[in-house]
Amino acid sequence: MTDRQVPFAMDADAPDRIPKERYYDPAFFEREADALWSRVWQMACRLEEIQQPGDYVEYSILDQSVIVVRGDDMSVRAFQNACRHRGVRLVDGPGSSTSGFTCPFHGWCYGTDGANTFVSRRGTFAEHNLEPADISLVPVQCETWGGCAWINLDDSAPPLRSCIEPFASYMDTWQLDNMRAEWWYAFRLPVNWKLAEEAFMEQYHVLETHPQLRIPGRYPMKGKAFDPKMFLESELHYLRVMSEGMAGMVHANDVKVAEGLQDVELPADPVEARATWERTLNAAVVEWHRAEGHAIPDLNEIEAKGMTEPMVYCFPHFFVLPMYSSASSYRFRPLGPEETLMEIWSLTRFPEGEERSAPTPPDPWAHDDPRVPPIPTQDFSNLPRQQQGLHSKGFEYMRLSEQIEGHISNFHRTIDGYLQGKSHAELAHALEELNINPLERPVVDLGFEQR
Ligand code: FES
Ligand SMILES: [Fe+2]
Repeated sequence: MTDRQVPFAMDADAPDRIPKERYYDPAFFEREADALWSRVWQMACRLEEIQQPGDYVEYSILDQSVIVVRGDDMSVRAFQNACRHRGVRLVDGPGSSTSGFTCPFHGWCYGTDGANTFVSRRGTFAEHNLEPADISLVPVQCETWGGCAWINLDDSAPPLRSCIEPFASYMDTWQLDNMRAEWWYAFRLPVNWKLAEEAFMEQYHVLETHPQLRIPGRYPMKGKAFDPKMFLESELHYLRVMSEGMAGMVHANDVKVAEGLQDVELPADPVEARATWERTLNAAVVEWHRAEGHAIPDLNEIEAKGMTEPMVYCFPHFFVLPMYSSASSYRFRPLGPEETLMEIWSLTRFPEGEERSAPTPPDPWAHDDPRVPPIPTQDFSNLPRQQQGLHSKGFEYMRLSEQIEGHISNFHRTIDGYLQGKSHAELAHALEELNINPLERPVVDLGFEQR
């Protein structure tokens, strides 16, 4: 592919500055639709939504719509949601039909494997318009991983796994595929999709935006004696605030397990006290879940590998936030240059083999809906103000900390790689740099940029 000029491109010599037009310019937004969303792996649905043969969902991204369906053979396939006769969208939202799909216009039928099974008044069409490959649904690349189905609108895209490492291996260690959705919310945010994601790509905002997370006693203070009892109290308080703030992530079950450890003896040394506490809590959480019949990895092994980042990112639109037994998970989709659909799933572990009903797709709430859990409410409260501020005449570009907000720069420069039409091979290294913990990350070399 030849390189194309990108409007409002990131400047390779100033990777810590983001031109503001990237967040609202309609031409830039169009370019993302044509050159980014058409080529990337996207989380299309959770597998709980399509448990039985014939279960399907409609996944929409901008003006594209895809059917993701569980076949009679239990495999998951995806098709363009357009009848091969005169283009009518076959499905509208989720549903279930073991007999496949019937077009509401003239009744053409398709199996769950996409094959055309019926053309009414078949003899009135010329033979050249009835070639089986031409009248079956157009397949879309589809794979399953991590409890989700993923689609890619680009037939030449490499396999899913090769595009989402090291995120995939990281979350495999956590046995993400054993987690299920406990609840699922959606929010309509009046901001660009990148702005929405970037609220979760650094930790710099936490002290100011989430003041309840400033908890004294969690970390030793200079010149103050360390009090293990107070430390333990503070840790329990932190777990409760996180659990209530996210309505999950630190699951209420894990908080209860932690509260049962109030009497644990902790060493007087602060580093040893923290290590002992984490080890004890990890072991107790694992023990509790295994007794309930839940598949859960050894959390102390994960801790020993250093894989306890609270947030893991998968370009371009998916996050997992693992904490002890459970996790929150985010997906973002652009609805327009200044409008984004964000979804949150609260994931936890359930007894193996237990039947659970399919979660219902949520009606999106406004960003300031009182039902939004407290921590996202705080994150959302800044977003519309930031989107508005970008339009200020005196504001030209965002200035990032190259040391701790580098992920945001790496994210934008990777997007430019797509908008320039770089090949999947050229972009592979950039994806490896992005599909990882986004917090406290520096600006890094993405491998494809010329200076
Ligand atoms: S458009 Fe689908 S049967 Fe005619
Ligand atoms: Fe936040």
